[in-house]
Amino acid sequence: MSEQQRYRVIKRLASGGMAEVFVAESAGIEGFKKQVAIKRVLPQLSKKEQFIAMFLDEARLSAHLSHSNVVSVFDIGVGDGTYFIVMEYVDGADLRALLEHQKKLGRPMNVEVASFIAAKMCQGLAYAHELCTADGKPLQIVHRDITPANVLITRYGEVKIVDFGLAKASSQLAESDAGIIKGKFGYLAPETVLEQGVDQRVDIFALGIILWEMLAGRRLFLGDSDYITVRLVRDAVIPSLQQINGEVPHELEQIIRRALARDPAARYRTARELGRDLTRFLYRHGRPVSEYDVAALVERAKGGPARAVDGTQKIAELIDMMLLEFKSLTKEPNAGGGGSGLSLLPSLDTTTSLLHMPTHSSSSPPGSDGPLGGLADELEGPESLHEDEASSSVAAWFRGLIPR
Ligand SMILES: Nc1ncnc2c1ncn2[C@@H]1O[C@H](COP(=O)(O)OP(=O)(O)O)[C@@H](O)[C@H]1O
Ligand SMILES: [Mg+2]
Repeated sequence: MSEQQRYRVIKRLASGGMAEVFVAESAGIEGFKKQVAIKRVLPQLSKKEQFIAMFLDEARLSAHLSHSNVVSVFDIGVGDGTYFIVMEYVDGADLRALLEHQKKLGRPMNVEVASFIAAKMCQGLAYAHELCTADGKPLQIVHRDITPANVLITRYGEVKIVDFGLAKASSQLAESDAGIIKGKFGYLAPETVLEQGVDQRVDIFALGIILWEMLAGRRLFLGDSDYITVRLVRDAVIPSLQQINGEVPHELEQIIRRALARDPAARYRTARELGRDLTRFLYRHGRPVSEYDVAALVERAKGGPARAVDGTQKIAELIDMMLLEFKSLTKEPNAGGGGSGLSLLPSLDTTTSLLHMPTHSSSSPPGSDGPLGGLADELEGPESLHEDEASSSVAAWFRGLIPR
């Protein structure tokens, strides 16, 4: 049994439908301070046993990932009535913020920089997709939620994918439980909305969407409602990039088209192959590109007008006083064993925190505050489903929506 872990919250980064993300530092260890990011499941979701069981399974699995293009997970814990993931803090910006910045400038991202970011994403994806157990059994890891918000970029231009596998858990939640689905339909793959089974190629398709968007300077699949967005995904009609952005060479457009093939069988089979083609393209294309160029972009994007709102500032100050305390779950005797039953869930009221978190978390609408609040609608997606369109699971919703 492990000791209690303590982290002092420095600020809240974001609040979504499923969790809140904080920057924190280890507390109580004299002279040793390390900044981490803590993802805290919204307390009201901690009672959804199926969700939590899968969330913990996926988080444990992601704790095995160790690659420079993947955000490292350090620990998983329970306390203060909910669950936590402690991970590497990425000091920089997410790709959504970079895309928003480009949109404000009214021009797409530079071809080499966009291709470089995509190639780095491929390296992180290929690593996770190909990971095996010690005895050589493929772990079959699929991210399932490759979106610009899950691509983090450090101030030094390193590209890191975050939240591996967590979408699998969130699919256990009904739409009414959380706003997780909102704004995410536009990064699904056609086979997902057609319920034809999901494998690693859904991540390749999502990466293709992101690369297309970096180069087009606009969203690929975005309708006036979620329903229309899902239909656009299903049909997967890809407008010519070269017609939108004359800088995009034919070779790159062909690579992106293959990543975005509607039929998974016609798509790149692996992230490794896609990454290899992008790297070849970059070498052939001529102009050198490196992390320094990506770093410059992060700096420019962050140098925009301050986004702090009075209220947000107040909350940030309050959070400054918070101490999160929890018990690590990674050192439990059964930790790491996939498919854990509900009996593995520790009782939530066995641990207490020194200070209680403010209650704003449960009442704030997703994405309404934090540094990423107020993003352009186009990046966030249209409003959520109408009452009568909502159903108990994503699959059921697709079933009702997609005529076959
Ligand atoms: N490890 C991290 N380091 C720095 N920022 C992070 C980290 N994890 C998440 N974030 C920030 O929090 C945002 C919201 O994260 P998350 O709760 O996963 O919502 P989403 O569903 O939009 O990805 C991310 O887009 C990113 O800006
Ligand atoms: Mg995320």
